[in-house]
Amino acid sequence: MCGIVGYVGHREAAPIVLSGLKRLEYRGYDSAGVAGFEGLPSGPRLKILRCEGKLDNLIQTMKRDPISGTSAIGHTRWATHGRPSERNAHPHRYKEVVIVHNGIIENYNELKAGLIRKGHEFSSETDSEVIAHLLQVSLEKEGDFEMACRQVVKMLKGAFALSAAWTKDPKKLFVAKQQCPIVLGLGKDEQFIASDVPALLDYTKDFIFLEDGEMAFVEPAHVRIFTFAGKAVNRKSHRVEWSLAMAEREGFPHFMLKEIFEQPRVLRDTLRGRIKSQFNGIVFDTVKFKDSQWKKFKSVSLVACGTAWHASLLGKYWIEAFSRVHAEVELASEFRYREPVILPQSLCVAVSQSGETADTLAALTEAIKRKMNPLAITNCVESSLARRAKNVIYTHAGPEIAVASTKCFLAQTTVLCMLAVHLAKVHQTQSSKWITQILKDLAELPEKVERILKQNDSIKSIAEKYSQFNQYFYLGRGLSYPVALEGALKLKEISYINTQAYPAGEMKHGPIALISEDWPVVCVAPKGDHQEKMLSNIQEVKARGGRIILVGTEGDEEAASLAEVFIPIPKVRVELAPILTTVVLQIFAYHMAILRGTDVDKPKNLAKSVTVE
Ligand code: BG6
Repeated sequence: MCGIVGYVGHREAAPIVLSGLKRLEYRGYDSAGVAGFEGLPSGPRLKILRCEGKLDNLIQTMKRDPISGTSAIGHTRWATHGRPSERNAHPHRYKEVVIVHNGIIENYNELKAGLIRKGHEFSSETDSEVIAHLLQVSLEKEGDFEMACRQVVKMLKGAFALSAAWTKDPKKLFVAKQQCPIVLGLGKDEQFIASDVPALLDYTKDFIFLEDGEMAFVEPAHVRIFTFAGKAVNRKSHRVEWSLAMAEREGFPHFMLKEIFEQPRVLRDTLRGRIKSQFNGIVFDTVKFKDSQWKKFKSVSLVACGTAWHASLLGKYWIEAFSRVHAEVELASEFRYREPVILPQSLCVAVSQSGETADTLAALTEAIKRKMNPLAITNCVESSLARRAKNVIYTHAGPEIAVASTKCFLAQTTVLCMLAVHLAKVHQTQSSKWITQILKDLAELPEKVERILKQNDSIKSIAEKYSQFNQYFYLGRGLSYPVALEGALKLKEISYINTQAYPAGEMKHGPIALISEDWPVVCVAPKGDHQEKMLSNIQEVKARGGRIILVGTEGDEEAASLAEVFIPIPKVRVELAPILTTVVLQIFAYHMAILRGTDVDKPKNLAKSVTVE
């Protein structure tokens, strides 16, 4: 998954493209490059600079050797085809054409073979470079850039967001979208393109979201949009009120800590306008299902990846417990290929922060094909998942920059809890008193999260005490098991420490063999949630030398007495405890990673969302 930025207008283009790439670096950061058209007396000259590694390498290079000119395109890469290197970095040029691409051209091999037979020589190992060659061939035939773009975009199979430019018409950028995100940023006598909104918030708040199968010609004075078939498209722009600061760290040392501390606001924004004023129901205004339709749903399949899958597992527990509707949680990458048995009147809920994760998108496509009713839960407005599902519940978390998801997990779980309460209401499995009470308790969560954030320093000192250990167990029962999974993933993702999460009752059937002084055991044991069973499991571990770090309910002396370290959460109804205990584990993982000196916001080998299989 890569980041693309482009500019055409009256200002120096390279600095604008570089600052946009900086905001997109969370999308992929193994190499980067910029191509700009320098206005020389002899005519425009195309200049390309590319570097392997983080964007800073390119920034330093361009300081020494700047690119002038008022139109440019740039790219930050997450390698799929061809290892990270300057040679495989984008932009890719072939004769008069230069391109940047995000995604995978699935038929690039046969396209490339055809071109090689015609004597073409390729300078990189990427799938993307074939686009530049194809454009040049069409250009030589048609002598018209737009005609060439229309022809080539039809030849490409797979997932792509791309931009291209021609040395003979540098004031025109071509953009095309198929299954990968790209937005147009609108200005006065200047236009912007980018893979994502935060890249352009410095310059505009007005955006056009291209649909799959659409392309655009972007010139200083205007943009023209067409379908791949050539039909003109009139698309209205969206005003995105995200402040620049929301995309910036607001003074926190890392985006991850900023996003952890944003969670009270995120919960308020996610709950906002969805809990009816009398606390007697839920409103999802971006979902077109009538109550009669909701009532028909007899089964729910939740599909997701990574952290979103852990949120979905919580969703399964809540939906079945509250509404008695059968619920399944599916790993998207498995669901799409395992020939699932779909029950009639099924709802497929696809959960994804980015709304662009290829496996989740494909799982939803598969579900739609199998006549399931689609619903997306995502954080990115107009993302591919949202458009594919049409029915969507946004998580209103604002841009999440850190690769390890925190605030979006909490927003997803809050939406899933509301969804379960809504299903309970339409299926009349809970009294109105119960509905009102749980909605009131949900509305009180932001304040309880604020109280946990106040423990940041004490959790930091606990991390200091345990930072030397290289393996951890995370245990929980019932609703706390998905929390244990998420806590274990957080520590793994950002500190590279080996962690294993288990339902506590499962330990005695094998994993307990590993228990020793060297394996701290993080136990998620809020009051009420299978408490007795959980405490006896903790006893079993303790009896074998396990060092217990226990996340429990404030004032729970019995639990605290079993722990080497006890981290309290405010009293809360048991069903909502997962939303609080998770925050403790997020903060713990963050400080462990800081102590290990890892790149907390951009951990190695990971990307914010993976738009390839
Ligand atoms: C991974 C991210 O690439 O994708 C995880 O590193 C994330 O943080 C997972 O949970 C799923 O992403 P999304 O956008 O579909 O929720």
